[in-house]
Amino acid sequence: MSGTVKLTYGGNEWEFPVLEGSEGEKGIDFGALRKKTGLVAHDPAYGNVGSCESAITFIDGEKGILRYRGYPIEQVAERARFTEVCYLLIYGERPTDDQLKKFRSGLTYHTLLHEDMKKFFEGYPANAHPMAIMASMFASLSTYYPDNDPALNDLNIIRVLAKSKTIAAFAHKKSIGQPFIYPMNDLSWPGNFLRMMFAVPSEPYEVPEVLEEALNLLLILHADHEQNCSTSTMRMVGSSEANLYASISAAICALWGPRHGGANQKVIEMLDQIKKSGMSMDAFLDKVKDRDSGVKLMGFGHRVYKNFDPRAKLLKAAADRIFDQLGVNDPLLDMAKQLEEHALQDEYFVSRKLYPNVDFYSGIIYRAMGIPTEMFTVMFVLGRLPGWIAHWREMRADPGYRIHRPRQIYTGENEREFVDMGRREL
Ligand code: ACO
Repeated sequence: MSGTVKLTYGGNEWEFPVLEGSEGEKGIDFGALRKKTGLVAHDPAYGNVGSCESAITFIDGEKGILRYRGYPIEQVAERARFTEVCYLLIYGERPTDDQLKKFRSGLTYHTLLHEDMKKFFEGYPANAHPMAIMASMFASLSTYYPDNDPALNDLNIIRVLAKSKTIAAFAHKKSIGQPFIYPMNDLSWPGNFLRMMFAVPSEPYEVPEVLEEALNLLLILHADHEQNCSTSTMRMVGSSEANLYASISAAICALWGPRHGGANQKVIEMLDQIKKSGMSMDAFLDKVKDRDSGVKLMGFGHRVYKNFDPRAKLLKAAADRIFDQLGVNDPLLDMAKQLEEHALQDEYFVSRKLYPNVDFYSGIIYRAMGIPTEMFTVMFVLGRLPGWIAHWREMRADPGYRIHRPRQIYTGENEREFVDMGRREL
């Protein structure tokens, strides 16, 4: 505890404790607010609400800092493999060699889907959005693994991480009408996924190192981001004691929207549109600034980052490197850079502290890797799974966790009589 705040209202005064986090972040503990005062705190988009205490990820949006379990994202991105980051986020510390070996072998052993699940894929229309398939398939996994016993949490966590890439790759193969490629277990997590995405049965396929490295980086940069829309959904749904698979299915749906993870797909669609229309960058930005147009600069802006998003910085640098290594020349990359340059000199964006977020460059890199636009948000899911799981596990490990149940300020009609008008059947 770090002092108290006083609240006065209607001639009464109450004191509330101030909590302090390990990085000096402070918050008023309003747990007893309604009980003491009869008032509730009103903040519909949670911009000022600390919904939990968490030891997983630290963000300082003013300084552009992001750390996983205390480790700066820049170091993790440069030095780690995705599986180690999964372990770190979920279990709190870097694994020993033995722990990592066991974790990796679990991730390898559990990659297969029950053969019956293939029939589900057959039922979707060919143009089904893969995010819809992901959400349904995760909910469906709970029909195969229905046991919600906490003793099985570790096994279910492994199953989720191992099977997610198989589901994602199968969703893609379904959309292009190609046969499913089964996992090959001597490959790394990213390598295995890339093979299931791009191999065809009739031809040998060797995972290109540049793709594997690029994917490793992208997955790590998406792995956690504290209390965002999808992670808070994961905690919200998990607080009802819904099982891990159901909670993930809900988080996938929350991520899908264009204000959140769906923005990576929208960035490419926006750049494509600008290109096709032949519009200048400034003309497009004028449209964005015109409130009545309803057009936003996708991949820009963030609730927390008001300086820069360190993930976007890393991805911008990676984009040049990856494009060089792949020998790809995509005019959309130059357009994105120009758009960023113009926006960062524009008073509208400067005064609102709007900077590129993680979605601004990720889509361009995925595109260069040959991943289709509709799969971009699925790629975000694959990266974000360890973060969602870490938060779900952290919440459930707290013996005092309660079901999440906000209050509201009712603004509807006061009591009125439902006048008897006889039976009103149509
Ligand atoms: N383009 C144009 N104007 C913007 C943008 C944008 N991308 N983002 C914010 N603004 C403006 C708002 O209109 C508002 O202007 P005003 O003060 O004149 O009313 C001001 O900047 C503040 O924005 P808010 O909407 O209050 O910011 P909020 O924190 O609620 O929203 C969000 C954040 C949803 C990310 C928003 O910036 C956005 O829609 N960006 C585009 C979509 C996107 O890239 N989403 C991915 C986010 S990162 C992630 O989830 C992985």
